[in-house]
Amino acid sequence: MGFPVHRPRRLRRSELIRALVRETDLSPGDLIIPLFVCPGKRVRREIPSMPGQYNLSVDEAVAEAQEARSLGVPAVLLFGIPEAKDARASGAYDAHGTVQEAASAIKKEVHNILVITDVCLCEYTDHGHCGVVQEEEILNDPTLDLLAKTAVSQARAGADIVAPSDMMDGRVAAIRKALDAAGLDQVPILSYAAKYASGFYGPFREAAQSTPKFGDRRSHQMDPANAREALREAQLDIEEGADIVMVKPALPYLDVIYRVRQAVNVPVAAFHVSGEYAMVAAAANNGWIDRERVVMESLHAIRRAGADLIVTYFAKEAARLLKR
Ligand code: PBG
Ligand code: ZN
Repeated sequence: MGFPVHRPRRLRRSELIRALVRETDLSPGDLIIPLFVCPGKRVRREIPSMPGQYNLSVDEAVAEAQEARSLGVPAVLLFGIPEAKDARASGAYDAHGTVQEAASAIKKEVHNILVITDVCLCEYTDHGHCGVVQEEEILNDPTLDLLAKTAVSQARAGADIVAPSDMMDGRVAAIRKALDAAGLDQVPILSYAAKYASGFYGPFREAAQSTPKFGDRRSHQMDPANAREALREAQLDIEEGADIVMVKPALPYLDVIYRVRQAVNVPVAAFHVSGEYAMVAAAANNGWIDRERVVMESLHAIRRAGADLIVTYFAKEAARLLKR
């Protein structure tokens, strides 16, 4: 039995009734805001390819975290730009590194906030790769020790959750073991389980100054043509001890978010990445799209696909729109 008995438009006639039957909800409490922390004081330097996003010194990162928290955003994800880079990524596991200082300052000064730290080496290596490099090859096992040291040092500095983004095999197990051995068995791991080798990270690499000096990240990040493999990556990470698994980027990979959500029983996160932000910002700045509509539509789509949490540069903006 179809028309004229069935008229789906009946449930679309007013905002009240649309809200009553809405299937997907979005709240500031689902959002995580990424912050790029840099050395110095009172630094707030706009990232050219990400208008409205900044490199922030620790004091400014505290202010930004405070503002996000007051809008209802419960968590920040920290990326660090070190004072100096070297082949062993020393800045990543320096007890007084940029991220460590920011984590401890935010925990001290902002009430009731979660600090998540990105665990990777590419911001800290002079060659810009995510691991130890030998003759232009990114070595897997020797990288694991450095990642584990990084995670432990971030958690000691106050990180509530560590988020490995490197895509080395076995990193979740190595990090879990090291955290437990350090008495940090209550610190969860949010693993970037299905992280694709994506062109959408371009603006991030400008912001984090982490563009590789040679080669690319295809020997560890996933092939954009694959989806089944994402399930395998997610399952392996969960077996190794991941508490939350993440898919990244978000909008070009909604099918992957959906499939991972069906396949696993842990919370699923999605990373709405820098290039996704840049495209919306650029088109909106040209007057070609309505920024607020596109932001809310994108975030609802990511939730509808099955993401429980969303890392997004639009976190503050979306929280403001949701309050209205
Ligand atoms: C580090 C890392 C990257 C992103 C998050 N962690 C960049 C990369 O893999 O080159 C990308 C985030 C974004 O584009 O917003 N490995
Ligand atoms: Zn990396």
